[in-house]
Amino acid sequence: MRVLVVGGGGREHALCWALTRSASVGAVVCAPGNPGIGEIAEVRPVDPLDARAVATLAVAERPDLVVVGPEAPLVAGAGDALRAEGIPVFGPGARAARVEGSKSFAKQVMADAGVATAAHWSGQDPRAARRALDRFGPPFVVKADGLAAGKGVRVCATREEAETAVDDALVRGLFGAAGATLVVEEFLAGPEVSVFGLCDGADVRILPPVQDYKRAFDGDAGPNTGGMGAYCPVPAAETAGLAEWAGREVFRPVLATLRSRGVDYVGVLYAGLVLTAAGPRVLEFNARFGDPEAQVVLPRLRGDLGPLLLACARGDLSRADAPAVDPRACVTVVLASGGYPGPHATGVPIHGVTEAAGVPGALVFHAGTRRDGARLVTAGGRVLAVSGLGDSIAAARDVAYGAAGRIRFDGLTRRTDIASSPTGARG
Ligand code: AMP
Ligand code: GLY
Repeated sequence: MRVLVVGGGGREHALCWALTRSASVGAVVCAPGNPGIGEIAEVRPVDPLDARAVATLAVAERPDLVVVGPEAPLVAGAGDALRAEGIPVFGPGARAARVEGSKSFAKQVMADAGVATAAHWSGQDPRAARRALDRFGPPFVVKADGLAAGKGVRVCATREEAETAVDDALVRGLFGAAGATLVVEEFLAGPEVSVFGLCDGADVRILPPVQDYKRAFDGDAGPNTGGMGAYCPVPAAETAGLAEWAGREVFRPVLATLRSRGVDYVGVLYAGLVLTAAGPRVLEFNARFGDPEAQVVLPRLRGDLGPLLLACARGDLSRADAPAVDPRACVTVVLASGGYPGPHATGVPIHGVTEAAGVPGALVFHAGTRRDGARLVTAGGRVLAVSGLGDSIAAARDVAYGAAGRIRFDGLTRRTDIASSPTGARG
């Protein structure tokens, strides 16, 4: 098989790496890729947000399968443009990607599918939004309906902050069209777990649940980020049979509901769950793998990934088994530019990547890097994700931190507590 991967972050590096290990995959091409991906795949300088350009590239490259990594190309219709050319795609079309692109749409689908989620109000009238705040009480959760670059969700301790959040979206229009509709919802307390299902429109294969660290600083302090680290397995999820539960209670009903609306969901569906005292609840859906969750779940998959993703793309998952899972644990630590998720420098030289990659059990995934002549330099907020495999979460953590410690660049920041107290671990 020849596979084209669309995207160029840490998640796409992990996807390309997993595909190069897949026995049936002969070649991996990635657009636009990054310097790490360039070491294991052919890269093509195409803008992933330009659905026409992606389709044109795919027609020229003739891949057996296209795998779309990030949400933005999916929401922009890359999946549809590729399917229109008759090319098998692992990634939902724009209508299906609305489960991520519109929180109120996701809420409607969950209601129709009978999926356990936070009670909510959604609408466009600021006065009605204030009444919804009365209904739910603090902490208040106020969300822009659309994609707002991770800034559209506010969890507010006080009524005053919550009213500001309502007015920012509905009166001041801070989020533009993405915030023209607002969702106000019940606060869900408990650990968050990410569950990924490989979907073919009706059927699904669930991957081992992952825990991500969203806050910038140790102890879950500081601002929300794209994710500062992750680990897999999550002991609490394994004990509770969360993957099976999610397949039965979340994924299959959601796929059936979408199909009844004329939408076949093909690709990864990401369910963000909260393990509340009253049981698991769905916080949100995303139309893609998590980043950096992909950097810990993909290294644990054994077997032939390419044909499994192709079976999804063809709507033919029924004969495919769930992928075998490596019993080893995986932990990833994100190395970020100082200041992230706020303003940060780029173009800073990076040292030690080769040494880190040489640590047994370690994998170095590039996220925001580029070449400047012969030098590797930073090119974004999240620069690298260093994953470690080990016989226990603690051993995997030692590998990841041991390897990460060999990498240096000016301003490097990272959390020191990734996987230090896994949810549900004994002792
Ligand atoms: P989202 O973009 O919907 O994933 O929200 C970003 C983050 O805000 C989530 O990962 C949670 O940490 C937090 N959050 C969102 N909705 C809720 C909620 N209903 N209850 C508690 N925390 C929430
Ligand atoms: N790490 C969270 C996400 O990818 O949305």
